[in-house]
Amino acid sequence: MNHEDLLALLGKMTLKEKVGQLVQLDGGCFGAGDMSTGPREKLGVTQEDVDVCGSVLNVLGAEEVRRIQDTYLERSRLKIPLVFMADVIYGYQTCYPIPLGLGATWDPDLIRDDYRLIAGEAVADGCMVTFSPPVDVVRDARWGRCLEMPGEDPYLSSRFATAMVEGFHGDGAPERSIACCVKHFAGYGAPEAGREYNTVDMSEWRFRNEYLAPYKAAVDAGCELVMTSFNTVEGIPATANKWLMDDVLRGEWGFDGPVITDYAAVAELIGHGVAANAREATRLAMNATVDIDMKTPCYAHELEGLVADGEVSMEQVDAACLRVLELKNKLGLFENPYRTCSPERRVEVTCSPERLASARKTCGEALVLLKNEGDVLPLDAGEDGPRVALIGPYANSRDIIGMWAIHADKSRSVTLADAFEEVLGPERFGWAKGCETLDDYSELGDFGKYVGITSGVDDGPSADELETEALALAAAADVVVMALGEHMLQSGEGGARTDITLPAPQKRLLARVRELGKPVVLVLFNGRPLALTDVLDDCDAVLEAWFPGTAGGRAVADVLFGDVNPSGRLTVSFPHNVGQEPLYYAQFSTGRPAKGSAHSGRFVSRYMDAPNEALFPFGYGLSYHTARYENLCVGTGSLRAGEKLRVSVDVTNESQVAGIEVVQLYIHDVAASRVRPMLELRDFARVELAASETRTVEFEIGEDQLRFWTPEHAWASEPGSFEVFVGPNSRDLLAGSFELI
Ligand code: NOJ
Repeated sequence: MNHEDLLALLGKMTLKEKVGQLVQLDGGCFGAGDMSTGPREKLGVTQEDVDVCGSVLNVLGAEEVRRIQDTYLERSRLKIPLVFMADVIYGYQTCYPIPLGLGATWDPDLIRDDYRLIAGEAVADGCMVTFSPPVDVVRDARWGRCLEMPGEDPYLSSRFATAMVEGFHGDGAPERSIACCVKHFAGYGAPEAGREYNTVDMSEWRFRNEYLAPYKAAVDAGCELVMTSFNTVEGIPATANKWLMDDVLRGEWGFDGPVITDYAAVAELIGHGVAANAREATRLAMNATVDIDMKTPCYAHELEGLVADGEVSMEQVDAACLRVLELKNKLGLFENPYRTCSPERRVEVTCSPERLASARKTCGEALVLLKNEGDVLPLDAGEDGPRVALIGPYANSRDIIGMWAIHADKSRSVTLADAFEEVLGPERFGWAKGCETLDDYSELGDFGKYVGITSGVDDGPSADELETEALALAAAADVVVMALGEHMLQSGEGGARTDITLPAPQKRLLARVRELGKPVVLVLFNGRPLALTDVLDDCDAVLEAWFPGTAGGRAVADVLFGDVNPSGRLTVSFPHNVGQEPLYYAQFSTGRPAKGSAHSGRFVSRYMDAPNEALFPFGYGLSYHTARYENLCVGTGSLRAGEKLRVSVDVTNESQVAGIEVVQLYIHDVAASRVRPMLELRDFARVELAASETRTVEFEIGEDQLRFWTPEHAWASEPGSFEVFVGPNSRDLLAGSFELI
């Protein structure tokens, strides 16, 4: 259809039908199941509401999508197809590492390719729009949803946001592309005290400098929808925030697609205390140009009355409805209401060899080696290599896919035990669970039963039996690999924690194993930065595996046995202890910095009982090679607008192992009209180095990379001195300087 056709269609619609396009219901309303996070109570919608509803939440399955679409269209007067939207966050049935791991690849090009494959798998099974990418900047490890995001840095997260949107779009062919919805707009990653759904409150300059950039990158890359966040922005919930949605998103950024709420967020305006009832909530959201009401009856039941009373205009409803119709038209649904979903194509693409191989490769790049004392890794997989005991709740668990892999085919997960046995054979390898994941599973509530989590629900062996078996196995081995971590449900939505250390039974087990005096390698499964201070001395090596996805076991084995030289680098700071949170590398100096202040002793900005810095900083990660950085050159030492300043550094592989260095460039604006972070990532390069090779790595800095949100409410740079830093992480840096003139 062309635009005129859509306008003609709009002209034929009744108010009830237009409102219907603005309502999203879940599978339950269509006689199907659905899988979403959020409260599960009855909506109270009528069959008439369902008959005109515009979109469906989280129902997938080629047959189910076709069935629902057919039944719906049969009953529909104007035959406007439903659009099926779902959460496809880091994989569909083939599951990639959680986004914290994807971020740790520092490889947006690779992730773009992965998201192409993800789109192809999801679209074959009926997904037309995905609620992805989530790109909230995450700086507080207490928040459970750290796992869904690429990390703490606005620039790096923006690079991933762009890549993910481009990946979802693929080459544009319907069988390889899905429309996407950036979320959660905006600032959702900064809830006070890290507590889920809590207040977000920050100044506008901070919001713009540090939080908005990744969403903007997704919008600029052409994402079709934007999802409102649950939180407040300047005291007004995002879902009712006209400044954010209309002025910034639509006005300043030129976004003209549909804005959808997060789950039940219109009705939650009442909970926030900005609306007295559903009618007021509907008016506020509509006036903020929020088009689609996900999973509440507010729009369905209140909008017609508001129009009749002149509190919402017909023009507002028409504009919102047209945005939804345009999306459907863009997806080609008027020509083919199933798009390319087909059971046959699903068989062809689901967990295809290409996808499994890409998940394994990406996972290999996502793993971060945090410690490798005495080069205990890599382990020798050869016949003369060590006997390995693999111990821990994640030794043979398929729950290595993380909380948001709701469509993943868990039966395809390769466990560590599967992979180790393939590499070592049964003679040189054994595994044992060793302990329960948690002492008490009750903190997890009943959500687990919706996502098929079984740990903690069966009456297995006693704690003593588990430990005895594991210690015997460890005693007979040459090396112990401990597979420990958070319970899969301890992170993700609703997974806020004030204790971000490893669960107690696992720490006890690790300490007992340590007493045996064997080399201990700790492989960690977790959805947030953990505070590892209390376990670091109990192991010789630590490999951060996140929740590594379908190919996780194999990828971990690839790294542990040296087939892959780890290159993952953290995109979130790991604290010494939870009291440092929120913790991020791009700190401000303060008037009394801990180092270099005119004041001495007590009266500087520091903790009495912990360092200011991270235990493992942003950008950090080890490899099996070591590299030397030297000869930082900062071009002419001065930069003018419109020109580029060349920055170069020599990086040498000091070892006989080929590897990848992630060379990172940071800047610091020394004196500006607003305080500026001591370090800000502005560029990076993944550089492959052969054994003993030296490469000169070059960057270019332009004036546009030095801009910030000024007191004049504009993006601008200010002339003056800048420091530039290059190195392998945000701590170990070479320093230079230049002037912006
Ligand atoms: C709530 C989550 O916040 C959001 O990320 C998700 O897309 C919706 N539920 C729908 O499942």
